[in-house]
Parts: sequence; C-alpha cells; structure tokens
Amino acid sequence: MAKKLTELTWEEFQGFDVYEKGACLRLERPHVFHTLVAQQFDRRFLDELCELTTTIRTIAKDKEGMLFLKGLLAHKRAMLYFSQPSSRTFLSFSAACQILGIDTEEVRDTAVSSEFKGETQEDSVRTFSSYFDLIIMRSKVAGLAERMAWVLSNSDRPVPIINGGSGRDQHPTQSLLDIYTLQRSFEDRGGIDGKQIVFVGDLLRGRTVRSLATLLMQYRDVDQVFVAPRQLQLGEDIQKLLSKGGVNFSLTDDFDSAVLEADAVYMTRVQDEWDDETGDSRKIDTSRYHFTAAHLDMLKPGAIVMHPFPRRKEIAVEVDNDPRAMYWRQMRNGMWTRSALMAVTFGVDREIASQL
Ligand code: NCD
Repeated sequence: MAKKLTELTWEEFQGFDVYEKGACLRLERPHVFHTLVAQQFDRRFLDELCELTTTIRTIAKDKEGMLFLKGLLAHKRAMLYFSQPSSRTFLSFSAACQILGIDTEEVRDTAVSSEFKGETQEDSVRTFSSYFDLIIMRSKVAGLAERMAWVLSNSDRPVPIINGGSGRDQHPTQSLLDIYTLQRSFEDRGGIDGKQIVFVGDLLRGRTVRSLATLLMQYRDVDQVFVAPRQLQLGEDIQKLLSKGGVNFSLTDDFDSAVLEADAVYMTRVQDEWDDETGDSRKIDTSRYHFTAAHLDMLKPGAIVMHPFPRRKEIAVEVDNDPRAMYWRQMRNGMWTRSALMAVTFGVDREIASQL
C-alpha cells in the first residue's frame, strides 16, 4: 500500500518502481504537492488540469483578469534552480510565476553559488527551502528532484519541489504541456482517445518522450509509434511499461509511412550531450528522419507537428508558419499549463475556476 514520503525511509522510497512512487506522491495533498514523475498523474488529474489551463488562459485575456490572477499567489516566493542548460523551460516557469504573482529568484550557474565552495546540492536545496515556498529544479542528475522532495518532506520546511527535467529520465511538466497541446488540437475530434502519436528522433535519451509516452497510457485506444534509427530506439524499460499497460505500440525506422498515419508527429533532436555515456551519436545519420515541407502534404487532415525544442535540423523552417506546426503554440501552452500546475500546488485552483 502506498505511503506518504513522511512515512517512508529514503531507501524504501528509492526502492519503489516509478508507479509505486507515483502512488505515494498522489497521497501528499488532495491534488499534488511535489511534481516529480509523469506516473503520478491519473486521467482525472490530466482532464482537470487541462480545463484549469484553459480557464487561466481565458481569464488572462484582459487586464482585470490578469490582475485577479496576479493577486492569487503574491504572498509566495519560488526558487528556480536550473543547474542544467535551459531557456524555454526556465522562462516558461518564470512567466508562469509572474502570471500568478509569485516572486522568483534563480540560481542557474553553480559556479556562483556555494556549490563552488564544495556545498552539496542537497544542502543548497535545503538552504533554498529556508527562503522560498516552492523550488523548481532542473538537474543533470536523474533522481535528484526525488531525493530533495523526500528530504524536504521530512524536514521542518516541507516546501514543494517541481521537477523541471531530471537527467535522461523524466520531464513531467513538459509532458503535461504536451498533453494540453494534444487535447486542445483534438478538442473537436474526440480528444486524445483513439489517436495515433508518432515519436521521432532520439527516443533512447529524450526524457520528454519517456514522460509523454507514459502519460498517453491514461488515454483509450492510443497507438504509439516510435520512429528512430536502431541505436536511438526507445529504452527497454519504457517498452516494458507500455507492454505491461496493454498499450498498442510499435517500433520502426520507416519515417514516411509513420507520417502518413499520424494524428501527431512528435519530433525530437539527438541528445548528444549524453554521448560520453552512451556512444558517439554524431556518427548516426538521422537525415532520413527530418520533417520537411514535403511531409506536410503527407499528413492526414487535422494532423499536427510537435517538438519540445530546441530543434536543430529535424524540422525544416519552411514548416514553421503552417497552421499544423504546433510547436510555437506548444511552447506558449507550457506557460499556461505550468501556471495551472502551480495553482493546484498552492490550492487556488477552485478560486480560479469560480471566476468564469
Ligand atoms: C527538452 C529537455 O530539456 O529535455 N527541452 C525542453 O525542456 N523543452 C528537450 C531537449 O532538450 O531536447
């Protein structure tokens, strides 16, 4: 049976599989306290978060609405602790905080923090918890956000942690904004249920793919197709989770055939910053997996193209202004989705919903 973080030793929590961890995190608060792994969200939560995101977007359309939102969490402070490179996610969280009136501070370069003097990341995060009400963190170290959440939950300043990307493993808030983008795009066509989602690129090391593939398991009859050269195909651990969950999925290197059938094509870049650990991916020819203007003509009506960004050459710039290129809107959706998540984290979601 699931237990709260305060009822578990670190060894017990760490020893759980990712679904058991998700079940523990669901107990922390009525909705969400720490946001650590995609597996902690169920379908009901996803539907409610999408609805709240749309409500926030709607309220924010005029000055009066913006001022209402800005007043909601003006008494809260957040630390953005991003020790791994980021522009989108960092700015998106920062803008999301501004929407709700949350003050922010940042540490992005550990060379200017006490970590340079040998302080552990654990001590740094505990220090942040002395001054802030929320810690949003991105780290190269898989599992660090989990460790910090456990440490803070068991301290006298149990402030929530939001994982803004950890190692090659998880990027839960990216998958939430991806779900919102899919939901919004397929709103008039029965939502995400029954759709075919095609993932392309570095599926082995892309954490956005791993988190989104997991969340899609919450939807009915979704086909997941993974297109990559053999060396970059989806990890066996996720394949096992998909099989166990009864998901209809296939692996292929035939990009063109997959594009023809797709409702959404989710492009990703080669994650070569991990090359030291997993070989030299620059030697792999990925040009066959690039989405060009010619691919637009192959798409089914209503199909969309997504990308978590940054991109390199996976999507030709000629595609950018086509209405089916959803990646710019996807980015903006991230700001709204993250503000919805923080509204839930601080329990002001009902107040927002009652505004409409
Ligand atoms: C992604 C990431 O950091 O995992 N970026 C993002 O947050 N939008 C994808 C990537 O870096 O390729």
